[in-house]
Amino acid sequence: MFTQEMLDSMKKVEAARAHNIATEPRRMTAEEKEELLKHYHPDYKEEGFTHLSMGPNAGDKVPEELCELLQGKSRVEDLELDLTKADYEADVLIIGGGGAGSSAAIEADEAGCKAMIVTKLRIGDANTMMAEGGIQAADKENDSPAQHYLDAMGGGHYANVPELLKKLVTEGPGAVQWLNRLGVEFDKAEDGTMITTHGGGTSRKRMHAAADYSGAEIMRTLRDEVLNRRIGGGDFTSAIELLLDEQGRATGAVLQNMETGEILIARAKTVIIATGGAGRLHYQGFPTSNHYGATADGLVLGYRAGAKLLYADTLQYHPTGVAYPQQIFGALVTEKVRSMGAKLINANGEAFMHPLETRDVSAASIIRECSDRGNGVDTGAGKAVWLDTPMIDQIHGEGTLEKRLPGMLRMYSKYGIDIRKTPILVYPTLHYQNGGLQITPDGQTCVENLFVAGEAVGGIHGRNRLMGNSLLDVIVFGRNAGQHASAKAKEVTLGKATLDHVQRFAKEREEKGIHTQTLSPKLLPDYTRKV
Ligand code: FUM
Repeated sequence: MFTQEMLDSMKKVEAARAHNIATEPRRMTAEEKEELLKHYHPDYKEEGFTHLSMGPNAGDKVPEELCELLQGKSRVEDLELDLTKADYEADVLIIGGGGAGSSAAIEADEAGCKAMIVTKLRIGDANTMMAEGGIQAADKENDSPAQHYLDAMGGGHYANVPELLKKLVTEGPGAVQWLNRLGVEFDKAEDGTMITTHGGGTSRKRMHAAADYSGAEIMRTLRDEVLNRRIGGGDFTSAIELLLDEQGRATGAVLQNMETGEILIARAKTVIIATGGAGRLHYQGFPTSNHYGATADGLVLGYRAGAKLLYADTLQYHPTGVAYPQQIFGALVTEKVRSMGAKLINANGEAFMHPLETRDVSAASIIRECSDRGNGVDTGAGKAVWLDTPMIDQIHGEGTLEKRLPGMLRMYSKYGIDIRKTPILVYPTLHYQNGGLQITPDGQTCVENLFVAGEAVGGIHGRNRLMGNSLLDVIVFGRNAGQHASAKAKEVTLGKATLDHVQRFAKEREEKGIHTQTLSPKLLPDYTRKV
């Protein structure tokens, strides 16, 4: 099934393997990286972006697809709704049932509040579940939160919001311990200590993993905890608009049952948006490693309610998405493969970059190799480079790949590819939204009683996130939002629910001359074939 061109190139990779294992490509200088990003990273392209004409971030640059949704038509605009009734009442309403939403719900429940999770699919159907390589936490003797801070700040191009990053790294070790106590089965040595590895841009080995299904293991544990605590909520129930009271404070949401279309009203003293990312918007035509529900819904809901965005123009393209075979195009090949020693090799068998540069630099470097340098391998759907997976067993001994990367081995074996023997073809895939809604360290937006956690937050990771800092962020900021939203809920008396902000938004749209039929939030991607 490999083409002759692939087989010929593969021979060159095999012939150069011993040399490529023995030598390490040098790291790029800061100037080289800057130049590379400017020319090859998708964030630096003018096409694919536009400027918002309305709302709290009017004038800001955002991806075209996101702009259309942010300035779209509310799904409640043409509905007659009785806002005096409530189908559900909770202290803390959590929109989204991934890692951040579940962590928030557990903390709200722990604080004695009535928490409710609504999610448009099912609890756990989220990017957390898809995360593979691990979670960072500076808990080894040779490491410190300060070291973690410096790594993440450098990787984020010094644009990370300092107070948010400080919270992330200082609470990292506690977050991993919390997960360990809840029952996450982290990889451990015989003496019980956690095994840690490097990720791109880390100066210490601080990646804690559960093989290469770390997110699934974390999500399994969180979901069990949510279910064991009997935290209420609704699967297949999406939030289609926030409710604000007469003082403009968040006070619940309009919900839609995804199966029956029924509209429901949930009232709550505080609301947490934990809706995840936007990979399914396929910015600039990229495939994605994201979950089916990643359509930026929380950004739309928050923006229409008056919350501000930060860095909505910066996305993460994971350097190693599957480029071949077609059936799993865009799926994630975890960075842990490179942490374990596999190198990126071009069509001529040359290791063209250090395998653990930060993600934006790695992605741009692969794009350059496949475009201007003409060193890509033709996959039938574009060009790609090799990730030389057989190096792993050669470096660490036979059986290592099977033990440490069982998910990768299994995914490829379904298509007759044994990655212990055969290198794989990779190309960047849309992976993460670095930007999102702006929060204060207590997780609150500028809309009172509206909190955000997880991938829907912007600013923690600056303009480029390091591997493993997202699983950490969903836990640290999920718990943080749950704690602060429940403390706040104890002080709030429910006011009258309104949708005045939706009317104001529609009026502003008219005034700006934006005529759209695009309904937002999007809720699910549309993959129907257009004829
Ligand atoms: O490569 C990975 O396993 C992805 C990890 C992450 O995005 O943090």
